[in-house]
Amino acid sequence: PLLLALTAALAYLLGSVPFGIVITRSLGLGDLRKIGSGNIGATNVLRTGNKPAALATLLLDAGKGGIAVLIARALVGPDAAQVAALFSFLGHLFPVWLGFKGGKGVATFLGTLLALAWPVGLAACATWAVTAAISRISSLSALVAAALTPVWLAVLGYPQMTLLAIALGALIFARHSANIARLRQGTEPRIGNK
Ligand code: G3P
Repeated sequence: PLLLALTAALAYLLGSVPFGIVITRSLGLGDLRKIGSGNIGATNVLRTGNKPAALATLLLDAGKGGIAVLIARALVGPDAAQVAALFSFLGHLFPVWLGFKGGKGVATFLGTLLALAWPVGLAACATWAVTAAISRISSLSALVAAALTPVWLAVLGYPQMTLLAIALGALIFARHSANIARLRQGTEPRIGNK
């Protein structure tokens, strides 16, 4: 239990690093909180017009979740890997550095999945990519990917991760309430548009 608590704390700290904010600030791209959706993720960084910054945000926000899982699994074990996934994700959503007002967790979710079970991670990334190719809408792609992840877990043989995926998926849906409202009104912007 002590090791799991330590894993949770370290994963939270890693997950709470808001790379979108760090990158846009260091490049002088303005205050991400006042741009587009106001979110700290890669989709909103793209609205600054800086594609490399958006890609770096995507990779680093995904990478922090993936690294947390890989370290926890190597040093402690498979249960700790799931704890690390949950807490790095919670770190991104509720970072202490931003007054607990963080992001929507999509990149971090995909990164933890890739590290926990790469076939499921690839299936979730592919679900996002196919939905994005059709709709050009980031939030819709995230919602479809989150909703289908429990299906991929069942199909690909990882039932032990179902509870975790449902919990993270539910948080992703909760975080996208403003996006869902815009989707219903038909006003959600396409990827790359303000
Ligand atoms: O990863 C977040 C994405 O699903 C939506 O981002 O900025 O359009 O609310 P945004």
